[in-house]
Amino acid sequence: MTRDDRKVSSPRVVNIADLRLLAKKRLPKAVFDYVDGGADDEVTLRENLRAFEEVTFRPRNAIFVRGCEMRTKVLGCEMAMPLVLAPCGFSRIFHPSGEVGAARAAGNAGLGFTLTTMSGHPLEDVANASSGPLWYQLYLAGGREAAEAAIERAHKAGFTVLVITIDTGTFGMRERDVRNGAGVLLGRDTFAKLRFLPELLAHPSWLAGFLRDGSTLTLPNIIEPGRGPLPLSEAQDRLARSVVTWEDLKWIRKIWPGPIVVKGVLVADDARRSLDEGAAGVIVSNHGGRQLDGVGAALRALPEVVKAVGARAEVLMDGGVRRGSDIAKAICLGARAVLIGRAYAYGLGAAGEAGVSRAIEILRADLQRTLALLGCESIEELNRSYVDVPTSWPA
Ligand code: GLV
Repeated sequence: MTRDDRKVSSPRVVNIADLRLLAKKRLPKAVFDYVDGGADDEVTLRENLRAFEEVTFRPRNAIFVRGCEMRTKVLGCEMAMPLVLAPCGFSRIFHPSGEVGAARAAGNAGLGFTLTTMSGHPLEDVANASSGPLWYQLYLAGGREAAEAAIERAHKAGFTVLVITIDTGTFGMRERDVRNGAGVLLGRDTFAKLRFLPELLAHPSWLAGFLRDGSTLTLPNIIEPGRGPLPLSEAQDRLARSVVTWEDLKWIRKIWPGPIVVKGVLVADDARRSLDEGAAGVIVSNHGGRQLDGVGAALRALPEVVKAVGARAEVLMDGGVRRGSDIAKAICLGARAVLIGRAYAYGLGAAGEAGVSRAIEILRADLQRTLALLGCESIEELNRSYVDVPTSWPA
């Protein structure tokens, strides 16, 4: 057992909230708040969590559950359970192993990993680290040519599913980031960063890792023609000016040979349009409450999208998943699988790859226990009859 494994073992870490607290301790405030925070008043961020509390179980008891089959297939990929790691912007800032460590942990657990365009590690390094299914999430931040080059690299490296995020028409207002001066910390003006010195020195484990890692602040999967990797300091501005439209789906569909899944779908119309443009799946998501604040919880939007999609495609969801019972609730409401972002990012921030593995293990054990307590031997058995939703939810 390594030092990092011990750091996140039981009883110190029993649930995802414990990992969050460890991450809060190890990371400088500006880094922790970047992952922990949401847009504006963070209403949607809280709603995502609250919606899971509002859905309640209807178990079948007095059943001897011999074993719990959790394996499933998601967009053609075999997974040990219906869980995929979501794209998380620049995870390398939480821990030097970043996307590489997270992908390795996902692969070791037999789960899929989605690499963000905003990755701090080259996609080839991430692919080499993972033994599991690999999905690539596309932003058009560097323009169409840079995106085409990334798509080709991703395909060559073994990524099989392309995730297109459609909810970044501009960048959400993350007030914590503005207050903390996150842009300055990640920027190029070394002198301006001096104001962070006391805060950085108070987090020696993070600081040592960051310095050892070479303080790399570039995005190696966004290579604009004639330029090197895009500096992280320019990423937000580029993203704000690079919405993905339905027109883009057309050319992307032509050059990506595998399944495409559209992320950021919250209403039936967008779900249907995604499928009309050739998507094999949609992800019901409000970007973890980081974009438009005031949007309803992702879980609440799930039934409408499931109904609109029917048997035409697979529906996934993300936003607020912190327990295995949350995964079960989403599946009862029609999701094929869920994605986690913060739940594993807290682990990464707390203890690198070991923290991600611990987050996955917590959710795996949780889901298995939940199935047993519901009286189900397989996730295939989960359906709408195992949950109650508030009558105030859309029918
Ligand atoms: C990037 O997509 C972010 O939400 O920070």
